[in-house]
Amino acid sequence: MRRTQYVPTTDWLPLDKSPFLMRVVILTDAAQVARRAADVICQCVNKKPDAVLGLATGGTPLGAYRELAERFSRGQISFSHCTSFNLDEYVGLPVSHPESYRSFMDRHLFSLTDFASDRCFLPDGNAADFEQACLEYERGIAEAGGIDLQLLGIGSDGHIAFNEPGSSLSSRTRLKALTQQTREDNARFFSSIEEVPELAVTMGIGTILDAKQVLLLATGSGKASAVRAFIEGPVTSQVPASALQLHPHVTVLLDEAAAAWLVRRPYYDHVESIQRRLEQATKAPSEG
Ligand code: PGA
Repeated sequence: MRRTQYVPTTDWLPLDKSPFLMRVVILTDAAQVARRAADVICQCVNKKPDAVLGLATGGTPLGAYRELAERFSRGQISFSHCTSFNLDEYVGLPVSHPESYRSFMDRHLFSLTDFASDRCFLPDGNAADFEQACLEYERGIAEAGGIDLQLLGIGSDGHIAFNEPGSSLSSRTRLKALTQQTREDNARFFSSIEEVPELAVTMGIGTILDAKQVLLLATGSGKASAVRAFIEGPVTSQVPASALQLHPHVTVLLDEAAAAWLVRRPYYDHVESIQRRLEQATKAPSEG
């Protein structure tokens, strides 16, 4: 019997323009992850200059922030109409402490770009009334129209933001006690583990799932086990990032080391090659 090869037509949308997709993209190294992450963020802001961005701290997004700052300095992107909400903040650190997440964001992104300081929000780690402050944070996100693109890292214990294993999958912004593992992981930013705060205010998993699009980055072999668990394991509060399997539009950018434990790697690479063909086919002629 004669077989004809099935060739996708240009009527198809690139896979990530259709909803209901967890796109797993495996890149060679952290530098490529940073560039692709910056591409996704710039695409979002170019399409919607007043986009609401959910931002993350930690070692992982630093390369992407450097890319964004460089693109801004070359005049390729502006954030002047954006609003941002960060995922979390330590409890009890003065805002001026170099390791407060406010200081981190000022140092690595806000002061290097044109984000409007009165539209860059972080949870208040020194609130007099945390319950009230958390409600107001959630209200602020809703009043801004919801988060268009939420950037995430992942903890070696599978946490997203500071939603530690066991967090309710429908949780909202609240106080959370950090696990010993997280405090050990973050001790590298402080002079000793005793200095790492025990509590944080964090968006909940429900808050994150409300974002219209999610972009999770993971690099390095220390994340390989958590990456395998959240992409290929069951949805469980024991691996908070696994809740992203319920989200309709997630892009995961991994370097080789973080992807090393994925069992279905050949399939993700196959889907990615189809994705690239479709994107090429649907590019406007002017885009070359
Ligand atoms: P890291 O933290 O980027 O510093 O590894 C990620 C996280 O804890 O979410």
